[in-house]
Amino acid sequence: MEKLEITGGKRIFGTIKISGSKNATLPILAATILTNKKTIIKNIPIVRDVETMATLLSTIGSSVKLNKIKKKIEIINNNSLKTFASYNLLKTMRAGVLVLGPLLAKYGTAKVSLPGGCSIGSRPINLHLNALEKMGADIKVKNGYIKASAKKGLKGCLIRFPKISVGATENILIAACLAKGKTKLRNCASEPEVQDLIVFLKKLGCRINKIGKRSIDILGVEKLKSTVHKVIFDRIEAGTYIIAAALTNGRLKITNINPKIMSTEIKLLNKMKINIIKRKKYIIVSSPKKIKKINIETKPYPGFPTDLQAQIMVLMTKGEGISTIKENIFENRFMHVSELRRMGAHIEILGNKAKIYGKKKLNGAEVMATDLRASVCLVLAGLVAKEKTIINRIYHLDRGYEKIEKKLSNCGLKIKRLT
Ligand code: EPZ
Repeated sequence: MEKLEITGGKRIFGTIKISGSKNATLPILAATILTNKKTIIKNIPIVRDVETMATLLSTIGSSVKLNKIKKKIEIINNNSLKTFASYNLLKTMRAGVLVLGPLLAKYGTAKVSLPGGCSIGSRPINLHLNALEKMGADIKVKNGYIKASAKKGLKGCLIRFPKISVGATENILIAACLAKGKTKLRNCASEPEVQDLIVFLKKLGCRINKIGKRSIDILGVEKLKSTVHKVIFDRIEAGTYIIAAALTNGRLKITNINPKIMSTEIKLLNKMKINIIKRKKYIIVSSPKKIKKINIETKPYPGFPTDLQAQIMVLMTKGEGISTIKENIFENRFMHVSELRRMGAHIEILGNKAKIYGKKKLNGAEVMATDLRASVCLVLAGLVAKEKTIINRIYHLDRGYEKIEKKLSNCGLKIKRLT
């Protein structure tokens, strides 16, 4: 089992190039099922989840050519796709459920494993299934699988999501592209990754009209084209490295980003007195002598992202005074707190609220990763802790961060992978 060994106390100096977004790549790969023509997706991050999605597509019969050097993938989904997505693939990557919408819309039938549980919450998919039923699908959930059929195809209709869901918005948006007639989606997620999916779908020839902050109208079409698409940058990876720079009192240039779509995060970090110089495609981050405390709440975009909650919690342990976090998206996303406490952090949890006491010196320890973002929060804590930190179960980390130890050690930090 691989581990990471980090020796804290070094200052970060250098440049980090941000990879393509995992959470934009996954729905776009699922959406390639809609067309029989070749699609080329560029700027993809070479991370475990993307490789798992590529494997999933090839098991259903797509021809998939993943070029890890050029970070691009060529896909041809001809009509002989199997419409089955197995548990052993979905248990490690919940986003596999995003093939349900496209398979059902294109072939009128799909058997997809219920996504495995997750340490950050129950993560049901009722919003996905209820919307597909409303579009005319017959859905049965049995023996851990979703058996869906729509013999006469899916029918466009009005769907108002009872709560904002990135995955449900993406699954139904993709399915609606081949449905009969018009589908009106309301109370949709508007994350940049959803926007990038819409750009990709329009390039395929889908008729999509974003008519408001959270409203999207889709007119079903018969067939689609081929296209080439470059995935947007990973704003969560970028936010993680901004916090790494703020923590390690160095100076870091972060390139290959669009700061405009990170305005909420940058504004909040500025409030904590983190210096961020913004340019069109890069930012330069340096940290102040004193980091100000802050109170934040996680919210759907454009609010503060839940995927940066664990990371900013580490920064708050350095703040002047008590900071707070209210986690509004997932019901159990404080799994990293017990490990941070073992490193000396003083954090109190009451329901979905965390109280983080500042000016705490963290000490190195042997810790365990529980989910993707909790793992990277432990890396950040290790960078500022005295002595050594060993992080176990870093397969969680490899799901969503490309070459993290290389990117950080190239900037003067002491981090290495122990196999
Ligand atoms: C996406 O997950 C992201 N994953 C998550 O990133 C991210 O944390 C999340 O959106 C919120 O931004 C990918 O894009 C692959 P949701 P998703 O549906 O789509 C509840 C990471 O670290 N809900 O927006 O699964 C759900 O339980 C991952 O990269 C239902 O109740 O999130 C949660 O409380 C972690 N019923 C809330 O909605 C449903 O049918 C938001 O979930 C669906 C969701």
